[in-house]
Amino acid sequence: MSRAAVLCGLGAVLPPRRVTNEELAARLDTTHEWIHSRTGISSRHVVGLGAATSDLATEAGRRALASAQGDVNSVDMVVLATATPDHPLPGTAPAVASRLGLTGVPAFDVAAVCSGFIYALAAGAGAISAQLADRVLVLGADVFSTIVDPDDRETAPIFGDGAGAVVLRAGDPAEDGALLGFQLGSDGTNAGLIQVPGGGSRERSGGRRVDPAEMHFSMQGRAVYRHAIARMSESTRAVLERVGWDVTDVDALVGHQANARILTAVADAVGVPRERAVIAIEHVGNTSAASIPLALTRAATTDGLSRGDRVVLTAFGGGLTWGSSALTWPDFSRVEAYAVEQAGIPAQSITG
Ligand code: UT7
Repeated sequence: MSRAAVLCGLGAVLPPRRVTNEELAARLDTTHEWIHSRTGISSRHVVGLGAATSDLATEAGRRALASAQGDVNSVDMVVLATATPDHPLPGTAPAVASRLGLTGVPAFDVAAVCSGFIYALAAGAGAISAQLADRVLVLGADVFSTIVDPDDRETAPIFGDGAGAVVLRAGDPAEDGALLGFQLGSDGTNAGLIQVPGGGSRERSGGRRVDPAEMHFSMQGRAVYRHAIARMSESTRAVLERVGWDVTDVDALVGHQANARILTAVADAVGVPRERAVIAIEHVGNTSAASIPLALTRAATTDGLSRGDRVVLTAFGGGLTWGSSALTWPDFSRVEAYAVEQAGIPAQSITG
């Protein structure tokens, strides 16, 4: 029997501060109606002063590891998808690993923006298949509130902060929870559509002073919208073909939660009934690398996913990047509903 990565733990967390559309409308030239009708978002959570990606990621990792207890008691690799690392260097994954009591295990970041979780999942599953690891913690965590311009009505309403994580273990493809296939892609010719222009070697080598305005996230929303639908639809079809599933076999299509309209458009394009598209954006917004594990946690704890369901994950993000994965859903009776807590308080008090 060939070796496969099997999902055996899941957890997610949101920071406590909730920002409603009404709160944004009070200071930006926007309305709740515009935001909700264009995106499906009513509110999002943001970190408090001093909190960073690793604070959220550590708590999500703790929850995922707790839900895997009995099956997996520790991991031998940590992969963190993030576009908002605690520092430009080093990577944030080693700090998260140490805070989880995993000092010594290989730990690295994956930078694929909103596709990051699928890329990190592929890296973790690939490490298991190649026998580089037997148990992997895969995290997706982002704090876009730290890079979005709070005065930009085109981006500030869309993004929220959060973190989610899964635990993978070596198993076989016939088991519930097995990751059966991936499809990944990129298109660097359109890198400028989603960008933080400043702060990197391109700007620094130019001899100019770092312009604070260039440190904000920028996105050409309309163009990104079209690419997102096209790429997630193509990628979903490709992964279905790779694993030999018909579109009618799909019980749940869990897309990157960028915009509710994008998720229904992808379902329509692929031919998955809309009610099988998991839409969990309303109270969290676009949480970038955290969005898929957050949506999975919500679906798993609200009876949206059942053991044996055939699930397709699909994502699209800056780079441009995209990716999909097909898996069967495991028995996740120990998964807790995602918490709205912890982050926003100093790191030390989270780990005790
Ligand atoms: O996570 C990575 C992937 N990201 C995505 O997939 C995001 C993809 N893009 C989107 O979800 C959508 O393009 C947005 C939600 C960002 C924007 O929705 P849209 O339907 O594409 O609107 P638009 O950008 O075409 O703007 C329509 C109008 C414009 O006014 P005019 O030019 O028609 O007069 C905008 O200036 O809406 C205006 N507008 C707003 N109005 C009120 C833009 N933002 C706002 C706002 N409130 N917050």
